[in-house]
Amino acid sequence: MVSKIVLAYSGGLDTSVAIKWLKEKYNADIITVTLDVGQKEDFKFIEDKAYKIGAIKHYMIDAKEEFARDYIFPAIRANAMYEDKYPVSTALSRPLIAKKLVEVAHKEGADAVAHGCTGKGNDQLRIEISVRALDPSLTVLAPTRDWGMSRDQEIEYARKHNIPISSVAKKYSVDQNLWGRSIEGGPLEDPWNAPDEDVWEWTIDPKKAPEEPTIMEIEFKNGVPIKIDGESMNPIELIDKVNRIAGLNGIGRIDHIEDRIVGIKSREVYECPAALTIIEAHKDLEKMVLNRRELTFKKIVDNEWTFLIYAGLWEDPLRYDLEAFINKTSERVEGIVKMKLYKGSAMVIGRESPYSLYDIRVATYDSSSTFDQSLSKGFVTLWGLQTVASRKFLK
Ligand code: ARG
Repeated sequence: MVSKIVLAYSGGLDTSVAIKWLKEKYNADIITVTLDVGQKEDFKFIEDKAYKIGAIKHYMIDAKEEFARDYIFPAIRANAMYEDKYPVSTALSRPLIAKKLVEVAHKEGADAVAHGCTGKGNDQLRIEISVRALDPSLTVLAPTRDWGMSRDQEIEYARKHNIPISSVAKKYSVDQNLWGRSIEGGPLEDPWNAPDEDVWEWTIDPKKAPEEPTIMEIEFKNGVPIKIDGESMNPIELIDKVNRIAGLNGIGRIDHIEDRIVGIKSREVYECPAALTIIEAHKDLEKMVLNRRELTFKKIVDNEWTFLIYAGLWEDPLRYDLEAFINKTSERVEGIVKMKLYKGSAMVIGRESPYSLYDIRVATYDSSSTFDQSLSKGFVTLWGLQTVASRKFLK
């Protein structure tokens, strides 16, 4: 049996019902924890609600800086895009939530932590595996997965127990943080239905975006952005700013079919203006400073890193191993990328770097080129040797 439970609390219906349900089922003290990872909510309201429902203590933790520096920045270095589409924005926040749950549990001498994830998603993996990896002695509870209540039954439970619920029925299930918004459910469950306009909050309809393009210069050092248009910014300000400007230009909308780790194929819609813009710029800069063999290998490493994050394995030692490689290559990922943001597209239109491997004297078609074309004659022959020799046996 457990006596003190630290619950990850969002203020929504599931975790609100969970406060009461856990308290009754285990006859335990409930401590709630809400992280600010840039989701821009009324945290005072959430705190009041937690106490009202019966939490004995509430922690409101501003984790924005840590989230940006230790979670989003590594994702930028790894060009993290799950299945080439999803910048793993929700996924990145979960191991940080797990870490804070464990910290609070230790501070409060709690013997269990709890979360509101269902049994159908990826988030249960991300939170539970991270908690267990950090402290295997803690019990992890997943009330939403265990209680077997439908949404209507939850609302009924809330009514009966005087748990305040919002009067407007939510059309979508939304999770958001500094790196993006995830929108699921309702009419989006039919993969043929185009997203209604009310899905989008951070991006303007590209056809209503400004007629004039916005030119934005993003400066990178050590593989992460440090300046926008020449102005130094902390990671939070920088990402906020790119979100705003790219969003105004209609950039950031994503709609795809995603493979969840539990096997479900799901239709997922996201809004990630900064992620799409910054990763596009970062990839381009890498192409200028890393050689072809490094780039080819880094794609494999990036893919593996992204999969670990998506699949709930943030705490796996392999992540550190992969980051050793990624961080080494990032030492040369420095320079400025010029982007054109225009009606839904973020296009790279210029780049420069002190580590550039681009050499105009070699590349130019001008007669001044230092590239010795006579060397190519033998090179072409040798390069094609096996292809030419084996082609004749192709059946
Ligand atoms: N499919 C995404 C992921 O697994 C987003 C999950 C969003 N969660 C939510 N409660 N809406 O990371």
